[in-house]
Amino acid sequence: MSRAFRIAPSILSANFARLGEEVDNVLKSGADIVHFDVMDNHYVPNLTIGPLICEALKKHGVTAPIDVHLMVKPVDRIIPDFAKAGASYITFHPEASEHIDRTIGLIRECGCQPGLVFNPATPLDVLEYTLHKLDMVLLMSVNPGFGGQKFIPHVLDKARQVRQMIDARGLDVSLEIDGGVGPANILEVARAGVDTFVAGSAVFGAGRDEDAHRYDTVIGTLRAELKKL
Ligand code: DX5
Ligand code: ZN
Repeated sequence: MSRAFRIAPSILSANFARLGEEVDNVLKSGADIVHFDVMDNHYVPNLTIGPLICEALKKHGVTAPIDVHLMVKPVDRIIPDFAKAGASYITFHPEASEHIDRTIGLIRECGCQPGLVFNPATPLDVLEYTLHKLDMVLLMSVNPGFGGQKFIPHVLDKARQVRQMIDARGLDVSLEIDGGVGPANILEVARAGVDTFVAGSAVFGAGRDEDAHRYDTVIGTLRAELKKL
């Protein structure tokens, strides 16, 4: 399998009291992308972090791509702020935008890479008209709002469907999954065509190598599973 796999730890499960160090440590331990969950207590029932924190991570010296997952409604107002704050990808939920094509265009105009996010029960129909404009499709394998939830298996069918659409059109679009992913299921998820794996609690929750404050063991295990493909 030649597809490049990327591990994207979700900082939702990091220790926010020392976030810079946590991000440095997952990256030193082999993570590829920083997954940045933005929640507004409106579109989802939780409240997290905004552009100021993204900017602080950039100023701290983070050079890895920052994958901003917007769970906010409305979305357009905050996009330029995240672009200025150093976001690489900006993904949003189609239900949260009145004008999906306009929002995708806005992300692109701001110099970021756009992606659409689909909740477990959200149909994929808008991809028909948007896939060619996207850099990423993110499939939620839990209902958004919280880390540490259980993986919903029917999302694997959706992953196969999106992989088929991307390949049939010869597009270079990342397929990312988010929620309940860890060493026990990452291989099965990869087999369904996913190339980018968000893992929050699996990395930050259980995976810390206590002495070194590093995450080499868990990230190494995730990569070892992927090598079995
Ligand atoms: C949930 C977030 C996820 C979450 C994943 O709304 O989008 O990124 O942090 O956490 P785990 O990996 O613990 O399911
Ligand atoms: Zn997320």
